[in-house]
Amino acid sequence: MCGIVGAIAQRDVVPLLVDGLKRLEYRGYDSAGIAVVVADSVRRVRRTGRVAEMEAAALAEGLGANLGIGHTRWATHGGVTESNAHPHISDGELALVHNGIIENHEAQRERLRALGYAFESQTDTEVVAHLIHHHRKQGVSLLAALQATVKELHGAYALAVIDKRDPATLVTARMGCPLLIGLGEGENFVASDVSAIVSATRRVIFLEEGDTAELTCDGVRVFDASDAQVMREVHVSEVSLASLELGPYRHFMQKEIHEQPRAIADTVEGILDAGGFDAALFGKDADAVLADVASVQILACGTSYYAGLTARYWIEAIAGLPCAVDIASEYRYRSVVGNPKQLVVTISQSGETLDTMEALKYAKAQGQDKTLSICNVPESALPRASKLVLHTRAGAEIGVASTKAFTTQLVALFTLAVTLGKLRGRVDTAQQADFLNALRHLPGSVQHALNLEPQVALWAEKFAPRQHALFLGRGTHYPIALEGALKLKEISYIHAEGYPAGELKHGPLALVDTQMPVVVIAPNDALLEKVKSNIQEVRARGGEMFVFTDADSSFSASEGVHVIRTPRHVGILSPIVHAIPVQLLAYHTALARGTDVDKPRNLAKSVTVE
Ligand code: F6R
Repeated sequence: MCGIVGAIAQRDVVPLLVDGLKRLEYRGYDSAGIAVVVADSVRRVRRTGRVAEMEAAALAEGLGANLGIGHTRWATHGGVTESNAHPHISDGELALVHNGIIENHEAQRERLRALGYAFESQTDTEVVAHLIHHHRKQGVSLLAALQATVKELHGAYALAVIDKRDPATLVTARMGCPLLIGLGEGENFVASDVSAIVSATRRVIFLEEGDTAELTCDGVRVFDASDAQVMREVHVSEVSLASLELGPYRHFMQKEIHEQPRAIADTVEGILDAGGFDAALFGKDADAVLADVASVQILACGTSYYAGLTARYWIEAIAGLPCAVDIASEYRYRSVVGNPKQLVVTISQSGETLDTMEALKYAKAQGQDKTLSICNVPESALPRASKLVLHTRAGAEIGVASTKAFTTQLVALFTLAVTLGKLRGRVDTAQQADFLNALRHLPGSVQHALNLEPQVALWAEKFAPRQHALFLGRGTHYPIALEGALKLKEISYIHAEGYPAGELKHGPLALVDTQMPVVVIAPNDALLEKVKSNIQEVRARGGEMFVFTDADSSFSASEGVHVIRTPRHVGILSPIVHAIPVQLLAYHTALARGTDVDKPRNLAKSVTVE
């Protein structure tokens, strides 16, 4: 969703801001803008649409300065218009960018109107700009005005502010939304995401909840929620520039699909380095936290939720623990019955998803403090709020549709299931060795599945003109059917539904006709015969079948039944391998339909609002 970048330097910061905003584009946005302080004035350029359009306008205006802020906006309060785009300016003096939502903006707006402020936008953000301006009028510094303002705000914010009366300072504040400071040589930066500044510096400070900070060219001062100056640790970011570049690929989604053997191998390597299924993999307190777990509660959204649904089969079968999986936005509003012996597992690529974060807070408020986060972004909000962490090593995921994050989440969750099983005495040494072996061979099997791309691309041509599709699977492959349907709908805009194959005759069979392609994930497992019967039910109604099955299953193509053979059955990890062809099917169908694959309409990469 929204992105922030800011810089103070002895060189022109406009190219830095534009480059940063381009790197934030993947998060999803509908307008962009920058503001700079130059020659005692605040100058601003905003545009709806792409950053490139805003960049062209900034070039045309000859914008250049040593101090500036930039923003990509994903509309929440107020439509997609130039006047709602950030930065917002108060009285021609100060400019501000904001991520998050100010809940008490209406009350503050009334107050500011009474003080004589006029509003140009429908945003909650403009309120903050005027509030800071109002405090400055009392004769305090920009930092003090920001510190006074944030105490009057309810809600979530990451803020960056510049003021023409103070051309050597950039101030910033954080509550509930990620924000970090980048430390350069004689220049400093602020950003909502390290990718925005990684070409300038890798040395970063992650601001804590309630922090404010003041940046000059020469230094950075950070203050906690009570305005006391504090030292925050300096981290060196591991985000690689290569993961942020497209390279020879046409889309980030395509690149990320093809990166999966490497991403899985890196995640598995982390497990092997720790000596296998050792509790220490999850953090230093893991022995104590995992010792007497009585059940598992998984919380996540979207694709990450589907990873959780797959994990339930593993956790029940391998660890012998009851496992519930909930969509975070539902869980947080249910009257859940807390259990202090329950392990609460949140799964998230970004680590920022607001609903998952709130669900975790709610779970903790019910007295459940055995918490584990499976996350792809270290130092993001979810791992920081959890006792234990397992970091998936997928690398930066830029395409809005999650691919390599999903398969690495599955690897992490499988590892959790085996570790819990081992701690409970249900997995002996020989089984551990078998499971490790299966993980070692996984990148190779995933590569085989990727080699099916030309065959899947041919199927995609048949899908492209269709309006609807059904995806079926059973057991651990049922969540893969759900994931296949989600991938197809979000990037190709074809309406698609995933169903457990056994549910077909309880409703969805009514939809099946010659126009409804039905994808079936039918590996050679214990449920294959049952899936075959379900396939007959579809064929008898004229439905065209597209079946992914193992090389060693007895399944064969016939009239109206197309078959692609995935690699030899890989046993318990088969859902990970079968995630690949459904990703490829969605990708090639979207290509054939000419959609914006990496930035599907209306969607954002990190969903930081409710
Ligand atoms: C779908 C997709 C989304 C995310 C969901 C949760 O391709 O990417 O459904 O999985 O928004 O996001 P994270 O995993 O960042 O919490």
